[in-house]
Amino acid sequence: MTGLPLLPPGFRFGMATSAYQIEGAFDADGKGPSIWDTFTARPGTVRHGEHGRVAIDHYHRYAEDVAHVADAGAHDYRFSFSWPRVLPTGTGTVNEPGLDFYDRLVDELLARGVRPVPTIYHWDLPQALEDAGGWLSRDTAYAFADYAATLAGRLGDRVRDWITLNEMSVQVLYGYALTAHAPGRGLGFGALPAAHHQLLAHGLAVRALRAAGAATVGVAAQHFPVTPAGDDPADVAAAELFATLTNWTFADPILRGAYPDAVRDLLPVRDGDLEIISAPLDFYGVNYYEPTRIEAPRPGRDYRGVLEVEIPPDLPFAPVPPEATSRTDFGWAIVPAGLTTILTTLHDRYPALPPIVITENGASFHDAPPSPDGRVADERRTAYLDAHLRAVLDAISAGVEVRGYYVWSALDNFEWAAGYAERFGLVHVDRVTLRRTRKDSWHWFRSLIAAQPG
Ligand code: NOJ
Repeated sequence: MTGLPLLPPGFRFGMATSAYQIEGAFDADGKGPSIWDTFTARPGTVRHGEHGRVAIDHYHRYAEDVAHVADAGAHDYRFSFSWPRVLPTGTGTVNEPGLDFYDRLVDELLARGVRPVPTIYHWDLPQALEDAGGWLSRDTAYAFADYAATLAGRLGDRVRDWITLNEMSVQVLYGYALTAHAPGRGLGFGALPAAHHQLLAHGLAVRALRAAGAATVGVAAQHFPVTPAGDDPADVAAAELFATLTNWTFADPILRGAYPDAVRDLLPVRDGDLEIISAPLDFYGVNYYEPTRIEAPRPGRDYRGVLEVEIPPDLPFAPVPPEATSRTDFGWAIVPAGLTTILTTLHDRYPALPPIVITENGASFHDAPPSPDGRVADERRTAYLDAHLRAVLDAISAGVEVRGYYVWSALDNFEWAAGYAERFGLVHVDRVTLRRTRKDSWHWFRSLIAAQPG
């Protein structure tokens, strides 16, 4: 009997990344600018003025990075395509050298026995589309479906499994309602049309991918339990609204074909949209990090810094740190049971819930640089991952079908507004030399996969 958590036979272990966070090569080979190129060029948006222009130079080092995934024995690798690398202005003529990069990446993965599970969109909208209205414009949803069809047409002979969009709720909340992420619009409730258009984009892409012969199609959604900070009815109402806006506004239309009552009238829904959005999926991806506690804003309290976002006065909720016995170095609460809770909640809420894949879970710790003998001792990350896998096992025992678990992230990378200080990787990346070093957690992950029943 090993001390490692053992998952059911056939369970898929993987590692995850996204294009803007790792690729760099921001203007190489005809790539157009994305909203993250624009946002990071604006002073004051990212810690220490950092950006993804070089990132960890994955564009040039992809073969080495694939080796770090493959050598661990990972079954799956979740990465994302940069839309403006493939289509520099979001629509129109394909930038062949950009698409060639993904061709090479996919071939490398397959040659190393790793299944590619790409995400079509992970927050880096072509700037030209943002200039035309971004996700506030319905046209962006149709452009996305064409882009998805282009990818499937070129890669569909080798890529069989697809994820449409990553964490729509986060881009809508942080990028359109608030100003913490690109495009930094700060629209408050005026951001809600962006939610509907991303959901429509998802549904249209599901159609396009199926038409192109995809084997499985899913989505990656951020989920977390939300609790009120106290018994005060204002806090209870704020928490309920926050849970609706972050969890259910996005999951309900996909998984039960209807929006929650609280937001229905705020969304530009047209006849037939919900049928498109609720097309059946083969898997539902859950990204989980920590639970959230919410209180109604109170005059005189300063919430800035709590979650590193500013809640504008017209949004009636403010995040407060959840109870936790420990936190990551990012300040995030370590609550593995929150993962069990959200999985059982999804299972209870949606009779038609497809099998779940944990498309992201992981932790940032400010690891010390590699020792002279090349070790990065990150036992806290290993403990975090181990505990969350046991939380997945608890959900499976409670009847939830969970088919896979992907660690965020394969490698240290650009953590959006927090820059490079937050390290989520199983592989350490030196900020100056970009040298990769496998952390102890990478070795643990390899042992874990090797110990599985099959
Ligand atoms: C969610 C996002 O999908 C990913 O890009 C990010 O780096 C991790 N969570 C950690 O914040």
